[in-house]
Amino acid sequence: MGKPRHRQQLVLTLLFGLWFPCCLTQTTPPSRTNLGPTPSSSPQTERLKVRLAGYPRKHNEGRIELFYKGEWGTICDDDFSTANANVLCRQMGFVSATGWTHSAKYGKGQGKIWLDNVLCNGGEKSIEFCKSRGWGNSDCTHDEDAGVVCKDERIPGFVDSNVIDTQVDESKVEEVRLRPVVVTAKKKLPITEGVVEVKHKDGWAQICDLGWTIKNTRVVCGMLGFPHERKVNKNFYKLYLERQKNFFLIHSVGCTGTEVHLAACPMEFSKPNATWPCTGGMPAVVNCMPGPLFTFGKVSFRTISCNVRLKGGARMGEGRVEVLKDSEWGTVCDDRWNLQSASVVCRELGFGSAKEALTGARMGQGMGPIHMNEVKCLGNEKSVWSCPFKNITAEDCKHVEDAAVRCNTPYMGLENSIRIVGGRSSYEGRVEVQVGSKWGTVCSTGWTTKEAMVVCRQLGLGYSMHAITETWYWDSSNVTEMVMSGVKCTGNEMALSQCQHHKTVNCQRAAAKFAAGVICSETASDLVLNASLVQQTVYIEDRPLHMLYCAAEENCLSKSAAKANWPYGHRRLLRFSSEIHNIGRADFKPKAGRHSWVWHACHGHYHSMDIFTHYDLLNANGTKVAEGHKASFCLEDTDCQEGVSKRYECANFGDQGITVGCWDLYRHDIDCQWIDITDVKPGNYILQVVINPNNEVAESDFTNNAMKCNCKYDGHRIWLHNCHIGKKHKTQNYQLSKF
Ligand SMILES: *[C@@H]1O[C@H](CO)[C@@H](O)[C@H](O)[C@H]1NC(C)=O
Ligand SMILES: *[C@@H]1O[C@H](CO)[C@@H](O)[C@H](O)[C@H]1NC(C)=O
Ligand SMILES: *[C@@H]1O[C@H](CO)[C@@H](O)[C@H](O)[C@H]1NC(C)=O
Ligand SMILES: *[C@@H]1O[C@H](CO)[C@@H](O)[C@H](O)[C@H]1NC(C)=O
Ligand SMILES: *[C@@H]1O[C@H](CO)[C@@H](O)[C@H](O)[C@H]1NC(C)=O
Repeated sequence: MGKPRHRQQLVLTLLFGLWFPCCLTQTTPPSRTNLGPTPSSSPQTERLKVRLAGYPRKHNEGRIELFYKGEWGTICDDDFSTANANVLCRQMGFVSATGWTHSAKYGKGQGKIWLDNVLCNGGEKSIEFCKSRGWGNSDCTHDEDAGVVCKDERIPGFVDSNVIDTQVDESKVEEVRLRPVVVTAKKKLPITEGVVEVKHKDGWAQICDLGWTIKNTRVVCGMLGFPHERKVNKNFYKLYLERQKNFFLIHSVGCTGTEVHLAACPMEFSKPNATWPCTGGMPAVVNCMPGPLFTFGKVSFRTISCNVRLKGGARMGEGRVEVLKDSEWGTVCDDRWNLQSASVVCRELGFGSAKEALTGARMGQGMGPIHMNEVKCLGNEKSVWSCPFKNITAEDCKHVEDAAVRCNTPYMGLENSIRIVGGRSSYEGRVEVQVGSKWGTVCSTGWTTKEAMVVCRQLGLGYSMHAITETWYWDSSNVTEMVMSGVKCTGNEMALSQCQHHKTVNCQRAAAKFAAGVICSETASDLVLNASLVQQTVYIEDRPLHMLYCAAEENCLSKSAAKANWPYGHRRLLRFSSEIHNIGRADFKPKAGRHSWVWHACHGHYHSMDIFTHYDLLNANGTKVAEGHKASFCLEDTDCQEGVSKRYECANFGDQGITVGCWDLYRHDIDCQWIDITDVKPGNYILQVVINPNNEVAESDFTNNAMKCNCKYDGHRIWLHNCHIGKKHKTQNYQLSKF
């Protein structure tokens, strides 16, 4: 605290050198459809079963558990080796191990510790053939449970009958799609009804619908991004489908309805290339009910549940889970966080089941309370609030453990009508849209962060780092004609076509030079003000004019100060501290280049005209009665949370910004950190602080950039109460005293 510092203001230029493209490519495991013999019909075989358990595990890593003599138990980590891990991974159908873990890295198991001092050569077919102290003979506790990390590649043709993976085994069913039966003239997306088809090695196949239940339908709909299922009129399809040539790969599907993937349901497979007769049946047909965001042929980015929301995700249907309790948003601790609980959240928000249940604040850390811990949904609850959970105390959990989800969302084909070209990476370029059958560029007049945000979202590329209005420095050899102008978005749209634009193209700028462009990024910063600190630090100071020469020169006083009898008299200042936290997933960096900072002799620092925060005093109907004129800023890490080191400082012309997990404190006693209320009459007001008010720098969430307090002023003293993060107040035109 108490740093003496000079703040410099920032100018917009592009940080080309600093922008860093993220890698989007996800490695798809070479999963193979298992067309081998149908799994053994008796589930209670005598063979040893192996599974991965614990948290945070994946389909290919976790705590090792063995099912022996009717009981699940663990393996002690004493003498554990890569050879042991190799045997276990292969036993579960993976080609090999990439590592192993000790000391209950995936949490402590329960029940027996089945094996200890296991010594495999590496070539054994099963862990039971390795040397050990013998079954159930161990001097360990569950604090020493061993885990493995297997190579994410399956042994070709491996039959999973001895593996029980409670998560998803995609080797059986890779993908599911709906083939619409009634092909209408214009294909409308999303497809909500049709024949279920599953992908296998040689193509797509159907499922025989004998014994098909609505619970199976629920699982299929969830995978396709739909929260609910509907009954289908089978007779409508029967005649048509019976005449088709069908290949039934799967029959006897028996989902319970809470699975997140069809592969997690018991089912039987037909023999290789054999055509299962499905006598008396037909291909399974389902009808799914899309969430409110995807109905009426429109998509909206807004969420719909009033007590659950997702924050910090780059794409629709992903983010940190936040829940509302006592009108305060809080996060969920990741202990026991799993796909079933994540799916309840996803469906509640109008998406399908969960694709991933993420732990360890993978979508950034929240701020404020943590409302839930050890959420244990069954999967059929209507709301995550209906699931069993534990109340939390501050010691239980920290924001580094915030839970997040990735939900299945319906395929909308949004990315097919837009592309970016000419940039240096797949994350940047000149925007081209398809209007009718023609591809062309977009006029950059009025092109702002809001429009660029929509483009990046539509392309599935995350957030907009920069809205580019001059694209001549990118490869301009094949610049297309301009086909869109006057684009105005609210920022919530899923596609540029949903934004307003001119009916006929009207652009005063040349397409080759001034086509609109974007730079997108998977991650963005997210600034939030500490509201309680404002409330705690507020006070009034009557500051003598002779101490305010610099402030006047910097425009930090209201206009009536010019009429004062300098240097006699004083100004009445409303002072408070602002502490601005970066809770996003990328550092907050000014757009300004150092070359554009202006030296300001009076305060002795660099200065430009850009705005980082607005401080305003509003009356009950939103009219400004006073505003802060703080124009001079310098961004730095005043302090950071545990384990994060400071990277930005203003002194010595240092690099400016706010690191993820750090905050920048503007103490109440810094010059210009105030609102001049000399002309304000006693009464009740709203104090509003808005950070990054013009959305100049990319953030993952602009809805938490405003802070409001109720303010009571009796002419001598001031009280603030109910300081909270909320929507920016709609302000009326300025009513400030003019001269
Ligand atoms: C199954 O059919 C595919 C092509 O239809 C063929 O390549 C493959 O060899 C067949 N497999 C068997 C086991 O007959
Ligand atoms: C959690 O605390 C609330 C009061 O804040 C109480 O009503 C509720 O029963 C508690 N729930 C659990 C699971 O302890
Ligand atoms: C521009 O278009 C021409 C002809 O369509 C093509 O041959 C060329 O590769 C394109 N250049 C670039 C940079 O895309
Ligand atoms: C906000 O400020 C208060 C008062 O100084 C402090 O106790 C609290 O820890 C701060 N909140 C955060 C999230 O840093
Ligand atoms: C609301 O604003 C108007 C001007 O826009 C002003 O005349 C009126 O007095 C204001 N009302 C209150 C309660 O402040």
